[in-house]
Amino acid sequence: MAEAALIDGKVHAEHLREQVRLEVAKLVAEHGLQPGLAVVLVGDDPASQIYVRSKGEHSLAVGMHSVTHRLPADVSQEALESLIGELNADPLIHGILVQLPLPAPLDEKSVLAKINPDKDVDGLHVINAGRLASGLAALTPCTPLGCMILLRETLGDLTGLRAVVVGRSVLVGRPVAQLLLQADCTVTIAHSRTKDLAAVCREADILVAAVGRPRMIKASWIKPGATVIDVGINRVPFDDPEKAAAGKTKVVGDVDFKAAKAVAGAITPVPGGVGLMTVAVLLQNTVTAAKRLNGLPD
Ligand code: GUN
Repeated sequence: MAEAALIDGKVHAEHLREQVRLEVAKLVAEHGLQPGLAVVLVGDDPASQIYVRSKGEHSLAVGMHSVTHRLPADVSQEALESLIGELNADPLIHGILVQLPLPAPLDEKSVLAKINPDKDVDGLHVINAGRLASGLAALTPCTPLGCMILLRETLGDLTGLRAVVVGRSVLVGRPVAQLLLQADCTVTIAHSRTKDLAAVCREADILVAAVGRPRMIKASWIKPGATVIDVGINRVPFDDPEKAAAGKTKVVGDVDFKAAKAVAGAITPVPGGVGLMTVAVLLQNTVTAAKRLNGLPD
């Protein structure tokens, strides 16, 4: 069988950002409405700093208003939640994202609960999770929406396909399962306690891997021709013992990519796949929030 087609996150993310840029220009020209995104970073985690900088740069590049609040790791719960209150009240801000994870001992759930659900462009407020599960208009987590865009671009109509999601996190597993269900897939959520996980995965026409374990999903778990979406971003030592001894690391997904691409019909690489979609969808969610807050149709 031929090798799997590669699903190129870079191309799809660029396309989406261009659509958002046009939409922002239209909102400014026709309604004087410039979508605004506020990103809150607490502490100095190096990976979070990179993600937050990227979010700020991309929002400016599509013509949005962009604000980044950097707070020290020892900020109090009260001060952080008071900032959220200010952003909720700020008419220039339509999207609020608090970069996770928050340093201990800050209470993440309490912070997320303070965000106005209509500005919750991360889709992590329980109101948005509930709206999504109820099939109502919600702001939906960015990475799951990115997975759906890639699936639709690759497969077209998803009706009736068997989808298996490995992982049940609030950030990815649960919301992507809801979105697949909305797309009329037959959905299984599998996880670390699932019996005979390999056999469950082999049923999938669509396999979404979101477990956070490097190369856990083996080629023998994949149905020939299946579409594989790998959400994992795991840092591992290089295979080359010399590089590994020097402490060098690289990023791999949750799927054993090299072997899997000989079996799958289409697959996302890591890096270069779903990860690149997340920020583009965040921009799109901010436009959606700005429109809804101003009574404009989606
Ligand atoms: N940290 C890693 N992924 C995410 C995400 O999607 N949203 C937020 N807020 N923090 C993250």
